[in-house]
This record gives sequence, C-alpha cells and structure tokens, in this order.
Amino acid sequence: MSASSEKTGAVPPLLHMAGIHKTFGSVAALRGLEVSIQAGELVTVVGPSGCGKSTLFNIVAGLDEPDPGGILRFEDRSCHASELLGRVSFMPQRDLLLPWRTVIDNAILAIEIEGTPRAEARAQALRMLPEFGLSGFENQYPHQLSGGMRQRVALMRTFLFKRDLMLLDEPFGALDALTRTLMQRWLLDVWQKHRRTILFITHDVDEALFLGDRVLVMTARPGAVKLVQPVDLPRPRRPELLTDPEFIRLKRVLLEAIEEESMKSFQAADVRPAG
Ligand SMILES: Nc1ncnc2c1ncn2[C@@H]1O[C@H](COP(=O)(O)OP(=O)(O)O)[C@@H](O)[C@H]1O
Ligand SMILES: [Mg+2]
Repeated sequence: MSASSEKTGAVPPLLHMAGIHKTFGSVAALRGLEVSIQAGELVTVVGPSGCGKSTLFNIVAGLDEPDPGGILRFEDRSCHASELLGRVSFMPQRDLLLPWRTVIDNAILAIEIEGTPRAEARAQALRMLPEFGLSGFENQYPHQLSGGMRQRVALMRTFLFKRDLMLLDEPFGALDALTRTLMQRWLLDVWQKHRRTILFITHDVDEALFLGDRVLVMTARPGAVKLVQPVDLPRPRRPELLTDPEFIRLKRVLLEAIEEESMKSFQAADVRPAG
C-alpha cells in the first residue's frame, strides 16, 4: 500500500507526502495520505468523486495548507505547502481561460504574472503553438475554440510555466471520447519531449492506465491512498494497448478497487432529500 519509492533507493523522490490530513470544518477531506513521486514520472490519480483529489492538488500547488503534523518534502527538503506556491505548475479542474484574452495572451498568463515581458512571453508561446495544434489560432478568443482546443491552450499555459512538477486536474474530463483519446496520445508525445514530472487526476480508468507509469487509487473520503498500481506497459503507448490482455488485467484490478471505494462513499453519502 505504501509508495514504492523506498525500493528505488538512491534517488530521493521529487515529492514526498506522508500523514497528510485536511479538514474543512467538520468535513475530513484527507486522512493520512501518503504519496511519493519520482522525477520524470507520470502518475495518475483516480478515486471516487469527493474523495479529496482536488484538495490534494491544492496542497501540492501551495494554494491550501494541510492540517499540522504531516510530512511534506519537495526536492528532498521539508517544506510548508505555502512554499510550493509558484514552484509547481497547476492546471485546475476548470480551464480558467479569460474570455477577453486571445489564445496567445491566455497562454502567457502565468509567465506574464511571473514577470516575463509580454513581447518575450508571446514569442515563447508562438514557438509552442504548432506543437499544441494551435497554429493560426493565436488571435482567436476562447469562445471561438472547440473544447479540445481550449484545453490545449490551458495546457500550453501550464507547460510554458516551466516547473519541475505539473499538476493536471481532469484536463480531458469534459471532452468527447474521440477527442479525449487524441489528446491522451498527444499529451504523451509532449510529455516525452519535455520530460516533465506529471501528476494527473482522472475519473477514467482507461485514461489512468494508458498514460500512467503508476496509478494511485484513492479511498472514499476522507481520502488516503488505497492502492499504488505500477503500470509496466511499454512506451510509446499505442491505441491497441487498450485491448492488450495485461492492460485488461490491470483495468480489472483498478476497477475492483475503485468500485469498493465508490460503494463506501455511496453508502456514506448524504442521500437525504434536499429541503
Ligand atoms: N474549500 C473547501 N471548503 C469546504 N469543503 C471543501 C473545500 N474543498 C473541498 N471540500 C470538501 O472536501 C471534500 C473533497 O473535495 P475535493 O478535493 O474537491 O474532491 P474530488 O476532487 O476528489 O472530487 C468534499 O467533501 C468537498 O466538499
Ligand atoms: Mg476534483
């Protein structure tokens, strides 16, 4: 159940969290969460809705403090969550494109806030456009784009803000199945080229397996890590992988774990009628 990082020996994890609790008033969102991420890994996170996935990301992004007492280490040094602010790039669950900014100006938002002069930031973003499938769209506004394109703009913003750890919170959750598949393959290409460490939340088990080096399954709320599943499937990952016997075996393991937790959260859910 505990992270496999201890086995890797010499190389300390990029991120290590243990005994992380988070309560919101009377709601326990996380209880005793433990996570270790090695540099260069793509780790996916699945779990029942409301189990604390976004809360975990907010803590890692430095936007929220866990309750006192947990262990939080980044780049092999103990730190407070607040010290992670600006050290991690974060794509929140909603894409948060500003409707009055063009594609290019949305893409540069984070590095512009950070102090990169606008002309230089735009030049950097322009070079990245083709790779994100956005060539020729730099002066469009978000409402003129398809859902997949909007997500690529938000991802481009996250990639431009170069940090050792990238957090992606259900980036493809709102896309149709075909677009989602294309975006997954595209993300793997971009990831392999840029060599980033990625923590990726999804509620789609196929997506978690297709992308991940490891899959973390979270328990029902209060969230902890129920299972860390290594995914020893070859890369580059091809679409045919989804029907590979090993893929299907792993999928069954994950689905069983998730279902067990979903049942718990369903039984514990507040099912009283409103009003
Ligand atoms: N800022 C907050 N204030 C109060 N409760 C919160 C806050 N953020 C999250 N929660 C609660 O914590 C639990 C976990 O939420 P969240 O992390 O968003 O779950 P997930 O992303 O896994 O769906 C939920 O019960 C949610 O209502
Ligand atoms: Mg969430």
